[in-house]
Amino acid sequence: MISKNDILKALQKVNEPDLAKDIVSLGLVSNISISDDEVSFTVETKNAALHARKRMVEACEFALERSFGDAIKVNVDVIAMKKSEAAQQILPNIKNIVAVVSGKGGVGKSTVAANIATGLAKKGLKVGIVDADIYGPSLPIMFDLQHYKPMSRVVNKKQLIVPAENYNVKLLSIGFFAELDQAVVWRGPMAVKALRQLIFDADWGDLDYLIIDTPPGTGDVHLSIVQNLPLTGVAVVTTPQPVALADAKKAIAMFKMENINVPILGLVENMSWFTPKEHPDEKYFIFGKNGGKDLCESLNINLIGQIPLVQSIRESADVGRPAVLQQETNVESYYQSACENLLSFVDQRNEKLDQTKVVPVEYGEPKCSSNE
Ligand SMILES: Nc1ncnc2c1ncn2[C@@H]1O[C@H](COP(=O)(O)OP(=O)(O)O)[C@@H](O)[C@H]1O
Ligand SMILES: [Mg+2]
Repeated sequence: MISKNDILKALQKVNEPDLAKDIVSLGLVSNISISDDEVSFTVETKNAALHARKRMVEACEFALERSFGDAIKVNVDVIAMKKSEAAQQILPNIKNIVAVVSGKGGVGKSTVAANIATGLAKKGLKVGIVDADIYGPSLPIMFDLQHYKPMSRVVNKKQLIVPAENYNVKLLSIGFFAELDQAVVWRGPMAVKALRQLIFDADWGDLDYLIIDTPPGTGDVHLSIVQNLPLTGVAVVTTPQPVALADAKKAIAMFKMENINVPILGLVENMSWFTPKEHPDEKYFIFGKNGGKDLCESLNINLIGQIPLVQSIRESADVGRPAVLQQETNVESYYQSACENLLSFVDQRNEKLDQTKVVPVEYGEPKCSSNE
């Protein structure tokens, strides 16, 4: 039996002629249905003229015949790409975009984002991370890149910002664009414009994952992210304590809202228990036990991982070398398993769902709670 993934794999050989990239990476294939001897799907194309659509049908038929032989009947419905969907195609070199969010501040969102990005890179994936926390950008310190001065280079006649890089992770932070020790109060629209530039006007190259570390809560920056980017999904970070869980729930509710509709990939419970250095086998449940895990069960979302509260995690963050790289401690394994889980949840999501649509601005600003 042919699976949806087999079809997508075969269709990776078909290019969208105007966008010069394959139709699968561009997220242009949808509505795949498979029966015994028949496969149907929809392909969006930029040029919807009759001859261009016909050529697309032929290219798809050819690709599927090459993979599965000619016993299978292929029905391709080629339709014009809608305008808002056309806008999503501007990051064709980035396969997955994951926003790390939390309801409450200080729960360890940036530490989790930094360790997951580094853990994925350690596995050989191509990873970038954007520090979008306009209120407290902390990734430059966590990656020991606080002295990076952003440069630009010309790529295809376009002036692009060059990301900083350490531990095989490319980083751009909103913090690179403000004087380090100068308190900067970013006004909403200004921050949103700067953030757009970090994402769209930067030379990220090909990426498997772009991780976005966001400010706490659900405010302007989050809205702007869902209005500008086809997110693969969000990863929610919380501690097991009730006040953090209540805020995590609010954030989850916002991403689930009908007109936002961004998949929740899963939840990371951080600071799940404290383990003293001298007693590595002991666990103290300072913030309560399994609060995040239980929330996952009650809301039917995935648990990406439970990360203990360990001094070396804080120390690694402060010296700019994420804990997932410190092999002498056992905390590395907690992050590695969180990375494995995230990868498999993203696979499951990509198998089940079509590309996330950006939230059209015409809908008006969705109402949501804000902690900012
Ligand atoms: N699992 C952990 N163990 C120990 N310290 C942690 C852990 N996670 C985060 N921290 C520390 O807690 C503080 C807040 O974390 P941070 O990632 O900056 O939170 P947020 O981005 O949610 O505001 C930082 O000093 C960080 O080093
Ligand atoms: Mg942070």
